[in-house]
Amino acid sequence: MNCYYCDRILASDAGYATSPAAFDLGSEAPRCPRHWRYVCGKCGNPAHFMATAYCPDSGRLFCSLCSREVREVTGEFWAWRYYFMYESPWTGKPCPGLDRLEVEGRHPAQAPETVDLVQAEDSQDTDLVRYPVESVNWRPTDEFSDDDVRANWNRNAEIWNAGYDDDGDRNRRYQSDEPMLELLGPVRGLDVLDVGCGNGYLCRKLARAGARPTGVELSDGFLAIAQERETQEKLGITYHHGSASRMGFLLPNQFDRAVSNYVLMDVLDFEAALGEVFRVLKPGGSFIVVISHPCFDSGPGWVKPAPDSPRREDRFAFKTDLYFQRGPYLGVWGGLNPVLSFHRPLRDYWQAFQQSGFRIDAFEEPSITERGRRELSPSRVAQALRIPYSCIFRLIKQG
Ligand SMILES: C[S@@+](CC[C@H](N)C(=O)[O-])C[C@H]1O[C@@H](n2cnc3c(N)ncnc32)[C@H](O)[C@@H]1O
Ligand SMILES: [Zn+2]
Ligand SMILES: [Zn+2]
Repeated sequence: MNCYYCDRILASDAGYATSPAAFDLGSEAPRCPRHWRYVCGKCGNPAHFMATAYCPDSGRLFCSLCSREVREVTGEFWAWRYYFMYESPWTGKPCPGLDRLEVEGRHPAQAPETVDLVQAEDSQDTDLVRYPVESVNWRPTDEFSDDDVRANWNRNAEIWNAGYDDDGDRNRRYQSDEPMLELLGPVRGLDVLDVGCGNGYLCRKLARAGARPTGVELSDGFLAIAQERETQEKLGITYHHGSASRMGFLLPNQFDRAVSNYVLMDVLDFEAALGEVFRVLKPGGSFIVVISHPCFDSGPGWVKPAPDSPRREDRFAFKTDLYFQRGPYLGVWGGLNPVLSFHRPLRDYWQAFQQSGFRIDAFEEPSITERGRRELSPSRVAQALRIPYSCIFRLIKQG
């Protein structure tokens, strides 16, 4: 049996010397040793060969997650239209992925002095784990408490924060923040509640736009980061440590606006949280809710022959499953410890909003902003146009 990648290369280069597959043999994409996985010399984890680069100065391989910066460089070779350029964690220099190095004849396995190094670092796994994975972990919701949620976010606060700038992470910056802020409208002079404020990036953005923000956050790890930032740069933000489901420290009818940005799918008792936001909002005030899109947060996800491939064009379709199965699950996101969330169908949100007394006034499914089209690579733009990652509601407190 030929290697999946050797066959793809052969289709565009009739002279390519293919190798038999030795790994992941039962899959749609069995792979030869060269096109398998390599152990990262920094974190020790194995990664797809295209998600691995070679740092010639330090003589070591490293993975995409250990690279501070990943760029896509346009350049046609074999079956591909671009290659990845990873920044060496040791020297900071840009290093192409192993697929590109191979076509250039610079793959470490192609040089006698490094061939042993590559073989020694070849990953010892023989198969990739596919869905259903253990992390799809449906346990009864009543076995969980806010303490589990807090502990889970405390484990991730620092790692999460490292991926943020003043505009949040890539998804917030290029996809959801613009439509979310548009639905929120002008905030100058208004009291705005940020429920589940995380590291406080949105509170800071709102403060810079003239609002008086209040952030409520369950994770003390996140809150410490937010408060430290406020000490460094005073923006007049008030932070409270507590659960959105019990905000007794806030007064009724205190806020002109409220927002919860990717929070409610992570809140155990989201109905109580809705009741609390309703209580503290002024009549006529609006509540903007951004959630991970429930249609795309359950089930196997992207279908790819080689599930570890970093290439977005290798994602053939998106599979969902267990849509009606409500409950806790651990989401796996690159670089983070598994994230505890609570899946609910869209209808549960819709009905709970109305039962709390809110009127649903607007609904959005963000794909990509103009800024994203300008600043992101073509493969990321193409991916963002396939399915919505989030959805946004504007709720009005009637009265
Ligand atoms: C996906 S993060 C989003 C953080 C922030 N809103 C942002 O956009 O960067 C979800 C946040 O919700 C917080 N959270 C979860 N349950 C909560 C609760 N019951 N009360 C307050 N915050 C909660 C978590 O601690 C975490 O900071
Ligand atoms: Zn191969
Ligand atoms: Zn690594």
